[in-house]
Amino acid sequence: MSGFALDWEARYREGSARWERPGLNPAFVAWRADGTLVPCRILVPGAGRSAEPLALVEAGFEVTVVDAAESAVGVQRARGIGDVVQADLLAWQPERPFDAIYDQTCLCALPPGVLPEYAQRLARWLRPGGTLFVLFMQTGREGGPPFHCDMDAMRRLFAAPLWHWPDTLPALIPHPAGLFEQPAALRRK
Ligand SMILES: C[S@@+](CC[C@H](N)C(=O)[O-])C[C@H]1O[C@@H](n2cnc3c(N)ncnc32)[C@H](O)[C@@H]1O
Repeated sequence: MSGFALDWEARYREGSARWERPGLNPAFVAWRADGTLVPCRILVPGAGRSAEPLALVEAGFEVTVVDAAESAVGVQRARGIGDVVQADLLAWQPERPFDAIYDQTCLCALPPGVLPEYAQRLARWLRPGGTLFVLFMQTGREGGPPFHCDMDAMRRLFAAPLWHWPDTLPALIPHPAGLFEQPAALRRK
């Protein structure tokens, strides 16, 4: 387990979880409503204590949650999420690929230096034709977490021929911490 990942447990214990939303992410709600995100086998990396895994289970998805923080994993297990794994995402490997991945403030929580490695992992964790539902945090400032996800850099990170981007991206979603998230549903070719 990387020391960076372990740091998150301290944040949960201190109660300084400013990244948390009071409810479901509006981007998640919109993807569910417009039929982009339909029941399938889905991974939620770095799910923390977020509400989306339970909403997915209740909607009939087969959900796997992976998080390094013991508290977060405990919360998701207590909610009855079936497959909850405590692991470092930069070391973990699933037995078989998923149909979809929902990444909400996990990518932007990782140090920028590991993003190429993380992006490769996301590609490996998805079956061809699967979809990465991701919220790219827009902070417009140096440092983090959350780290700013420059959209040109994200397009280079998730580039053709492996990834397909839609012609237009959904509108920015305000985050309670005063930031904005850029939703994107990227298809793994
Ligand atoms: C900013 S929080 C977001 C939590 C959740 N997605 C949400 O929206 O509330 C980042 C989460 O990623 C987890 N995390 C960070 N680095 C990780 C790593 N290397 N392996 C596994 N989990 C990690 C942390 O424990 C934390 O729960």
